[in-house]
Amino acid sequence: MGFDTFGDFPTTALEADQARRDAFVADAGGESIGVDQLHRVLAAKGIAGNVDLVAGDICETVPAWAAANPDVGIVLLHVDVDLYEPSLVVLEHLWPRLVPGGVLVLDDYGRWEGETRAFHEHFGDDPPPVERLPFVDATPVHVFKR
Ligand SMILES: C[S@@+](CC[C@H](N)C(=O)[O-])C[C@H]1O[C@@H](n2cnc3c(N)ncnc32)[C@H](O)[C@@H]1O
Repeated sequence: MGFDTFGDFPTTALEADQARRDAFVADAGGESIGVDQLHRVLAAKGIAGNVDLVAGDICETVPAWAAANPDVGIVLLHVDVDLYEPSLVVLEHLWPRLVPGGVLVLDDYGRWEGETRAFHEHFGDDPPPVERLPFVDATPVHVFKR
């Protein structure tokens, strides 16, 4: 499953992240890869049939997907949405679906205030064990095991 707007990069109520998001959009452009384009990329790799893409605001699409798929478990949950609101929604609705031994990857923990705040708000004083992977061009990626 892949969730994104597959269109415009959303805004956020968190001021610091909004400024950063604006800088990112000014630099890289505001539009994500489209569903059709991504399907073509996946098809070229022969894996389009294995991937479902859900377009729209994650704050709406993820709760709707979770409600419609109550029995689906998740082995790998990779969160790379930067912003507070969708990060919190993903943790609230999809962390409980992680199977025992499943892995949560947070691309922007400690880097974007929103994702970091969402993590601490969701887990409070009882966060899952964390492993920090050092290999992404000096940008640590954080992995949490259930
Ligand atoms: C830094 S990009 C990463 C995209 C992709 N993971 C990659 O590595 O190319 C962050 C993505 O989060 C998406 N995003 C942020 N907030 C979102 C929301 N509320 N709903 C859906 N997508 C969102 C943006 O559209 C953008 O594509």
